Amino acid sequence: MTGASRGIGRAVALALAARGARVIVNFAHNEAAAEKTVAAIAKTGGEAVAMRFDVADGAAVDAAVKDVVSSAGGIHILVNNAGVAVNTLTLGAKDADFRRAVDVNLGGTFNCTRAALRSLIRAPGGGRIVNITSVLGEGGSAGQAPYVAAKAGIIGLTKSWAREYASRGLTVNAVSPGVIDTDMTAAEMPAMRREEVLKTIPLGRIGTPEDVAHVVAFLAGPTASYITGQVVRVNGGLLM
Ligand SMILES: NC(=O)c1ccc[n+]([C@@H]2O[C@H](COP(=O)([O-])OP(=O)(O)OC[C@H]3O[C@@H](n4cnc5c(N)ncnc54)[C@H](OP(=O)(O)O)[C@@H]3O)[C@@H](O)[C@H]2O)c1
Repeated sequence: MTGASRGIGRAVALALAARGARVIVNFAHNEAAAEKTVAAIAKTGGEAVAMRFDVADGAAVDAAVKDVVSSAGGIHILVNNAGVAVNTLTLGAKDADFRRAVDVNLGGTFNCTRAALRSLIRAPGGGRIVNITSVLGEGGSAGQAPYVAAKAGIIGLTKSWAREYASRGLTVNAVSPGVIDTDMTAAEMPAMRREEVLKTIPLGRIGTPEDVAHVVAFLAGPTASYITGQVVRVNGGLLM
């Protein structure tokens, strides 16, 4: 479970643990927050361990996955959630802005999947990959083109992997959240803009990390075995 120290990732880690999964709580910087996720899982009787690695660093991902496979015996579910928002108009964008958006969001998803695939296709009962894309990856966004490109790319990876590994019993789906209440949105949404955004959401509220987590947990579970290559929207009707 990548990016599980905060926000959507933490809620997904808790939801998976509640369904009996032993969870690797990956994070990049925020060790205290990752330990909080681990403690919350332990409190409910679940099992989790925090693991720092940068999903954009292919060698670090390979080493971490090798570690997990040798200590836990295998990986059954991979949730590619780690992400960063990069906000810039294209005219003012620096190379580093584009690289960061693509390397973490899209490259991270690619690195983790490539590293875990051998183990996932051996998972008893069929492995599961759930990738977190975004409503912006589907609908575009002025001022976030590199992030949008990376999130749209994740949909392409999802459909390609669904086709590549269906014969091995591995399902690969994407979940596309709308506006969800996390640090990522808090950082970029002043109160006034929040009111404007609310008017665009038919269900009339910002989503919670748990709204997304329930759907991810379903797709990662045994009853979703006939669903692959899909993009499931959790957006309050923002995009239909
Ligand atoms: N919030 C929304 O409205 C929304 C909407 C659509 C899609 N999404 C997507 O949902 C996912 C989660 O978003 P969020 O809102 O929960 O974000 P968040 O609260 O900012 O949390 C981001 C998580 O990703 C981790 N992370 C960031 N860069 C990483 C890296 N290079 N390697 C490993 N971990 C890294 C962070 O770890 P640290 O704590 O160590 O920094 C943290 O756990 C993202 O992919 C985001 O694009 C969010």
